[in-house]
Amino acid sequence: MIVLVAICSFLIVSQLSSAQDCLSRDFGNDGTVCVCNADHCDTLAPIAKVQKGTYASFTSNLDGLRFKKDEGSLEASTENATNLINIGKKTYQEILGFGGAFTDATGINIKSLSEDVQDKLIQAYFSENGLEYNIGRVPIGGTDFSLEGYSYCDTENDTADPQLTQFNLTSADHDYKIPFIIKALELTNNKLDLFGSAWIAPNWMKTIPGFLARDSFIKDEFYQAWADYFVKFLQAYKEQNIPFWGITTGNEPLTAYGQKKIPSVAWNVELAKKWIKENLGPALRKSEFSDIKLMMLDDQRLLLPSAANELLDDKEVDKYVDGIAVHWYSDWIISTKNLDDTNDNHPEKFLLATEACNGYMFNDVLIGNWDRGEAYAKSIIEDLNHWVTGWTDWNMALNVDGGPTFINNVVDSPIIVNAAANEFYKQPMYYALGHFSKFIPKGSLRLESSSFDDQVNVGAYRRPDGGTVVVVLNKDTEAKNATIRDASNSKDIEIALSPKSITSLVFW
Ligand SMILES: *[C@@H]1O[C@H](CO)[C@@H](O)[C@H](O)[C@H]1NC(C)=O
Ligand SMILES: *[C@@H]1O[C@H](CO)[C@@H](O)[C@H](O)[C@H]1NC(C)=O
Ligand SMILES: *[C@@H]1O[C@H](CO)[C@@H](O)[C@H](O)[C@H]1NC(C)=O
Ligand SMILES: *[C@@H]1O[C@H](CO)[C@@H](O)[C@H](O)[C@H]1NC(C)=O
Repeated sequence: MIVLVAICSFLIVSQLSSAQDCLSRDFGNDGTVCVCNADHCDTLAPIAKVQKGTYASFTSNLDGLRFKKDEGSLEASTENATNLINIGKKTYQEILGFGGAFTDATGINIKSLSEDVQDKLIQAYFSENGLEYNIGRVPIGGTDFSLEGYSYCDTENDTADPQLTQFNLTSADHDYKIPFIIKALELTNNKLDLFGSAWIAPNWMKTIPGFLARDSFIKDEFYQAWADYFVKFLQAYKEQNIPFWGITTGNEPLTAYGQKKIPSVAWNVELAKKWIKENLGPALRKSEFSDIKLMMLDDQRLLLPSAANELLDDKEVDKYVDGIAVHWYSDWIISTKNLDDTNDNHPEKFLLATEACNGYMFNDVLIGNWDRGEAYAKSIIEDLNHWVTGWTDWNMALNVDGGPTFINNVVDSPIIVNAAANEFYKQPMYYALGHFSKFIPKGSLRLESSSFDDQVNVGAYRRPDGGTVVVVLNKDTEAKNATIRDASNSKDIEIALSPKSITSLVFW
């Protein structure tokens, strides 16, 4: 009897440490998803400390493994080792964390499920048996992933309201954002760093009215109102018991010039300088939210380092800005050197990746596609190896068509909701993010690392509890053996990398 109990609890414990029971499904898009429904959803228990001299590794791959756990021991380094992955002792930037965005579309899709399945979805991101996200981006008003364009101070006939007397949250906040943010706060024991970004200003504030108007700026006489609007947003959410860690100066000002009609407020460097130092900076610092992290740009890497240099060359702007927010959509043409240069020029400002998604150019949703998960993992490793402190995904949940979006700007998401079947699909992108968010807590430090092969990307991190995390992405269709050599203890770990795989290793 006692023996039986012991065996049972051993089985339960060992099961809990790998992703439990992925209900795999292949939609024919070169990869698989794990299906979650009322009866079932795979989980991954918090990463447990392993004995000194041993390691635990967790692998996901094209073949369908999801957080597959293996264990082994660290061996004395040998001279004949090949395919070396070197982990150095030198530490770099502190990691802020990982997360996604509470868009209206995310909330609409979550709400389209039965309540028990809704809970599973939000747990999949924020609970200790999920990805343990610690960052959330919250749109200030509407985005392209809303049912319509809106701000918090839309007035009848677009009458100017510079005192913001008609400022108010909307039903979209109360229905699609706040309930799920509250759940995420509960699941993380309030260890959730939320930051706000605005897409849409009230029409009356703009030089050319219309949420989708091109080249439309904030009118000079409403610079203070647009700054006060951010403070009012923070107050309104505080009244809902939702505290904010940060705020950006506004989503993608460059997009306001582009041909693609995505809602956005236009800025150029000179106007942004004026607004930040005369209006937004002072408004935030003299408000009850004076400690909030102010991030500038919230736009593509191609603006780095030039726009960052120009803005921060102004000492008054520099005084108010804490960090630089960067999106991934130009990464395919802009090198990581731009991130290095930005850090070299402004080492006291943190860099945070604040938006990324797949399917924005073609093939919106590709349910199960492995390459899209690989693209996330590659981006996170590269960004973090070039001074970025964390990585924030775009919509956390979209429908099978990649929406809803009122301008039909359909894209992909790590979780796709199929409301008709009352189920959702955890895509490779979801697991790719988890290979970082689950293992690298806030406060970790990036470590020096190197790879032996350009098909293999490596990131290494020192956790606050002293553990070392190594994430290895094998983009190759071939298996590879590698030796991870840790300079701090002169030990080696021999690992077999399966084709098209992501492996997170952890040891103390
Ligand atoms: C290196 O040499 C040791 C001892 O001779 C041997 O046990 C080990 O398998 C070798 N490793 C590799 C990667 O060849
Ligand atoms: C808005 O315009 C309509 C039509 O011109 C007018 O009847 C109405 O009084 C206006 N409302 C406000 C608040 O100005
Ligand atoms: C703000 O909206 C809430 C409901 O969402 C409503 O009860 C309240 O009256 C509104 N306040 C103003 C000033 O419009
Ligand atoms: C990796 O090592 C194992 C065991 O030494 C060997 O059987 C296998 O062929 C190696 N794989 C590759 C791709 O070299």
